Amino acid sequence: MKILMITSEAVPFAKSGGLGDAVSALSIAFSRLGHDVRVLIPRYYSIDRDKLEALPDPLSVWVGGSEHWIRIFSSQLPNSKVPVYFLDFEKYYGRSGVYGPSSREEYADNPERFALLSKAAFQLCRKLEWFPEVFHAHDWPSSLVPVYASTLERTGEFKDTATILTIHNLGYQGVYPKEHFSSLGLDWEQFHGAGLEFHDDINLLKAGITTADCLTTVSPTYAREIQTPGYGFGMDGLLRHRSRDLVGILNGVDTDTWNPETDPLITSTYSAGDLSGKEKCKRELQELFGLPIDPSVPLFGMVARLTEQKGIGELFGKHYGAAEHLCSSLMAQIAVVGSGDQWCEDELKRLSSLYPQFKAKIGYDERLAHLVEAGSDFYLMPSRYEPCGLNQMYSLRYGTLPVVHRTGGLADTVENYSQETGEGTGFMFDDLTPRALYNTIGWAVWAWYERPGHIISMKRKAMTRVFSWEKSAMEYVAVYSRALGRRKTRIF
Ligand code: ADP
Ligand code: GLC
Repeated sequence: MKILMITSEAVPFAKSGGLGDAVSALSIAFSRLGHDVRVLIPRYYSIDRDKLEALPDPLSVWVGGSEHWIRIFSSQLPNSKVPVYFLDFEKYYGRSGVYGPSSREEYADNPERFALLSKAAFQLCRKLEWFPEVFHAHDWPSSLVPVYASTLERTGEFKDTATILTIHNLGYQGVYPKEHFSSLGLDWEQFHGAGLEFHDDINLLKAGITTADCLTTVSPTYAREIQTPGYGFGMDGLLRHRSRDLVGILNGVDTDTWNPETDPLITSTYSAGDLSGKEKCKRELQELFGLPIDPSVPLFGMVARLTEQKGIGELFGKHYGAAEHLCSSLMAQIAVVGSGDQWCEDELKRLSSLYPQFKAKIGYDERLAHLVEAGSDFYLMPSRYEPCGLNQMYSLRYGTLPVVHRTGGLADTVENYSQETGEGTGFMFDDLTPRALYNTIGWAVWAWYERPGHIISMKRKAMTRVFSWEKSAMEYVAVYSRALGRRKTRIF
């Protein structure tokens, strides 16, 4: 199949979270299965033009009532033949951030920036004379692709091209004042017709959900959850309406990057058969974070965007969060890497200065992320909701037992510990409260000291769990086929 991925993030070029990992790894998996898959992404300032190849002519794209000339560069995803096309347009993408100057602020012209990305998908294919069977959009930034496919581009070269929208996170919808509508190049009847209207604003994700031929999300449990008011972020009614076209496909793990046997970012590699390298990683982690060096104390790691989604209130909330109680009552250590909400960064600094067994590094750091996964005994992921979650899967592969809220992809990938049999690969709780979280961490600490045999066998078992992108890619191909069928019978 010919597939074009349209995305705001793709590693190693741009990443703010798991979306960047997922799009690149899925594309490589498609390519390994023999499909002709290509990726379209903006060339943000941080992507070095000198490392890319320029295509001969610029693309013409209409956005905001005027025609823009966009230079196109190309490259490939590492260790693959997957072409990546970069839209080079200073006015919209010549900035350091993907969505805003920091994780706490958005660029005001995001509707125009990402309308350009979506429109350029069609123009690029025309220029390349390469007409894909499938446009695959990801989250709100490319949600206008299915909108344009079913309006401006519904006849002509793309009339048979199916559109898929993958929802990686329903918590981000791209909602903007309706004044931006006129710059999208759509007729006003599409304000309601294409589902853009949302409480008199425009909502890009909602429009994508309304118009895409098929919808996917990144785990089966999340596919069910988002159809309920508790997890639907106002979209549950619409998603129930589209229930027949919505499929949950679990993400995989990119084992070229996340493999404890070969990982170049950790000093000592290891395997399920020989965990001695993991002990060395633990020592290095303790050293680097300034924690007391002690192999006998259980070490809990965490790497995350510090947002409410990740359960940071319940974990780090001042005086009520589980972490502070843990520091004052349990024999355990905590190492955190993250950046995000200001209050949480402040709180992490406060806890770090108060407790020798609690240390945090504020910022984004790939190497530290790998070290935390490898050197920790347990991994904290008490997310309020988690569409899939990659870190708990990385943890399992690294023999680091996740402590998780039973939700979304966490529920689909972690098996709860049974203290009677020693079965399981992690520790789970049902209701996200500071107390439940504290009790579950306490349960893991108890097992560490009282059932060391269980912990060792759980680590080994966790490391054998397979999360294959090839399997996911095959499930996507089935969805593509369905979408192609739908496209042909679609009346718009
Ligand atoms: P989400 O996409 O919601 O942030 P995921 O678990 O799917 O959650 O993916 C998060 C990805 O981002 C992982 O690859 C994780 O290692 C990475 N990450 C998040 N915060 C940091 C950080 N501060 N430093 C390094 N990597 C980070
Ligand atoms: C989102 C979700 C995360 C998921 C990732 C990749 O950022 O929050 O759960 O793993 O996308 O699909």
